[in-house]
Amino acid sequence: MNVGIDGLEVWTGKLKLDLPGTFAPAKGEDPGKYTKGLGLYTSSLPDAYEDIVTMAANASKRLLERKEIDPRDIGRIDVATESAFDNSKPVSTYVAGCLDQVFDGEFRHANKGERKFACVSGTQALDDAYNWIQAGRSRGRAALVVATDTALYARDDPGEATQGAGAVAMLVDEDPDLVSLSEAQGIGSVDETDFLKPNQQFPSVDGKRSMQVYLARMREALQDFARNGGDTHPDTFDLVPFHTPFPGMVQKAAALGFRHCVRNTEVETQLEDEIGRQPRRNEFDNRDNYFEAIKSYTKDLRETDTYQGWYARTVEPTLDISREVGNWYTGSVHVARTAGMKAALESDRDLVGSSLLVASYGSGAQAEIHAETVQPGWREEIRQLNIYDQLDSRYSLSFEEYEAIHDVHNHDESTDLEPFTTPTDEFVFDGWGRMGERKYTHVE
Ligand code: HMG
Repeated sequence: MNVGIDGLEVWTGKLKLDLPGTFAPAKGEDPGKYTKGLGLYTSSLPDAYEDIVTMAANASKRLLERKEIDPRDIGRIDVATESAFDNSKPVSTYVAGCLDQVFDGEFRHANKGERKFACVSGTQALDDAYNWIQAGRSRGRAALVVATDTALYARDDPGEATQGAGAVAMLVDEDPDLVSLSEAQGIGSVDETDFLKPNQQFPSVDGKRSMQVYLARMREALQDFARNGGDTHPDTFDLVPFHTPFPGMVQKAAALGFRHCVRNTEVETQLEDEIGRQPRRNEFDNRDNYFEAIKSYTKDLRETDTYQGWYARTVEPTLDISREVGNWYTGSVHVARTAGMKAALESDRDLVGSSLLVASYGSGAQAEIHAETVQPGWREEIRQLNIYDQLDSRYSLSFEEYEAIHDVHNHDESTDLEPFTTPTDEFVFDGWGRMGERKYTHVE
């Protein structure tokens, strides 16, 4: 059965923080850390009336309306998030409550849940929907899968540089218009304590270690994918979307992944005259010397035309949106897929039948690799997205305004702030109910 993503919509927080222009000077930092080091230009942040529910519901409404989906056609609503505000009632019930306000019919019959495993849960929710359809339990209905997060860090935490807020809504169905998912899948998963939120809103992070853990789990997932029958030759893939906490992380992961995948292939042989053969562990009597040799080989590999051509074609286009929005946690890898396909559309690349290698990751820690095949309807799907218009119309915050809006979204503060933007035809946060629940309304 051909099962995958039939369509998607991306919804960004309405505010932006200019990282090199506003944030770096306020922190006394060199703007080059953002533009050259992390590869980030602006962060998306939520206005006072926005949160994970409004962004998820707004992306979903746009998607269901555009695809002309009736509530009866949806059998499942799953939300992936690591910014949930309730340990019992899932965010998907709030999202369905919003959608009930504007659609004829209800989502009463739809199975709802919430997926948690840091950023990788967006892909896990996609997997759940895929498995549900493959198992024959969908009875012709589609799944609505939404990845939504306000990726905020405590003020002055190094992670503050990588914040973001937004949602990606995906419709998962048989005979999809956008991409179908591979059966083969690779997992690299180990109990780690590099990034976690033990009953707290903002994460405790060991930033540098989190980067090492990301790379290690990604390598294991690639090995597992190959063991499970997945093709890992880099030339097989037209795009390689990675989980993108910031583009600089993906640059490191892409080089390691490419090196791993070309070992013992004709690509390694072709590069031998230029940079030698890849070091092998059995050629070294201790690990440190081996790691030094690998580091130096990877540096040389990144300078080759072969690597740079591959990177420019398959990875660089996937970073276009991330540079402007920061980390969206569960939505991040799905933003990368969207950006890569949007860039392909704009440069008139024909992707039908081509393969994407999708590399998801969540701290704590687990990487997941699967392949996707682009479907004939992809151009129409991608053409309908308005994410670049949304990005252009964000309100640009001063540093003082940024501090104020960060406080508004801090669960330990109780500040009120006039919104910076005016909502139109969208769901907004509308105050608190009698049991402490959050209330939402649709404004015209
Ligand atoms: P930091 O200490 O603020 O930054 O931490 P830095 O000093 O390491 O600089 C960052 C890069 O900019 C470095 O590049 C610098 O050299 C370079 P690198 O050495 O790594 O290649 N740089 C410059 N380049 C040019 N001109 C300059 C300049 N200055 C510096 N003037 C860190 C950075 C990422 C650790 C921090 O932002 C952080 O803790 N972030 C949060 C954790 C994170 O994003 N980890 C990524 C992997 S884990 C993951 O992806 C999971 C996650 O999404 C959560 C989940 O799964 O739920 C986070």
